[in-house]
Amino acid sequence: MSEFIKAGVIGHPIKHSKSPVIHNYWIEKYGFEGAYKTIDIAPENLKSDVQRLVDEGYKGFNVTIPHKESIMQLCDDVAHNAKVIGAVNTVTIEDGKLNGTNTDGYGFIHNILGNTADFEFEGKRAAILGAGGATRAIASALIGEQIEQIVLLNRTKERAEKLAEDIAFVSDLIIVEDWENRSAALEGVDLLVNATSLGMDGQAPLDIDLSALPASALVNDIVYSPLETQLLKDAKARDLQYVTGIGMLLHQARPAFKSWFGVLPDVTDELTNMVSA
Ligand SMILES: NC(=O)c1ccc[n+]([C@@H]2O[C@H](COP(=O)([O-])OP(=O)(O)OC[C@H]3O[C@@H](n4cnc5c(N)ncnc54)[C@H](OP(=O)(O)O)[C@@H]3O)[C@@H](O)[C@H]2O)c1
Repeated sequence: MSEFIKAGVIGHPIKHSKSPVIHNYWIEKYGFEGAYKTIDIAPENLKSDVQRLVDEGYKGFNVTIPHKESIMQLCDDVAHNAKVIGAVNTVTIEDGKLNGTNTDGYGFIHNILGNTADFEFEGKRAAILGAGGATRAIASALIGEQIEQIVLLNRTKERAEKLAEDIAFVSDLIIVEDWENRSAALEGVDLLVNATSLGMDGQAPLDIDLSALPASALVNDIVYSPLETQLLKDAKARDLQYVTGIGMLLHQARPAFKSWFGVLPDVTDELTNMVSA
């Protein structure tokens, strides 16, 4: 009889997570015996509740707010990329040991590659709006893909400067510009990414003029609720190529699923529609 594989996502609150839809879709599609659950863990119970998952034989779990940083202290091993980002979003349990990694950068890169015909990162100039955890993952993934330069713009400039100092080991690989200059800074940019929370349901839209972007530029918003943000509507109005943020969520789940179930699953249109609904 095949092994029943247990996995889940820990967070607080957790009931709105889309991860169970994604992983349970793959469990069924690939014919595994297993279940992926939401597990609500209050911050004060993190250590004891994670130990309970280990004792119950969980293969691993995803980690979301507010545990992405604090889980690192409980991990026996933290992958280099997660250390650079400063957050773990995936834990694999092997022989009672917790191995933490971060798959957001993978999700970002594969969302772009999976939704464009021939986009290449190497030698390109990117502009990223934001300097939070998502930007850390995206900027380090872009550096891994040999991006030539990243222009970083964040409302709180010091946060962008700290990020650049932490992850760019080559001077001028990341240039920090003033948030107020975000429209002018788009000149010569091949890839524009919104990694702020602006544009999310309940938040103000991102206010930016895209007219300085070259006609060949690609625009990506990692905000996926709504799917078509004002930024993407603006890109469409200028006839620019654009990619929505939902695919980043789907693709970041793939290496996590592989680490627990042993199969790198596909992102299908059916799954994308289920999660976008
Ligand atoms: N598609 C995906 O799979 C995926 C994955 C991860 C995250 N996300 C989304 O990406 C967004 C950022 O996530 P995160 O984890 O990096 O969050 P975070 O660490 O909280 O960072 C939020 C960012 O938004 C900026 N911001 C917030 N309000 C702003 C405003 N009124 N004006 C200008 N900038 C503002 C912040 O600037 P300050 O530094 O000045 O506060 C900061 O750069 C969220 O919407 C999240 O849902 C999507």
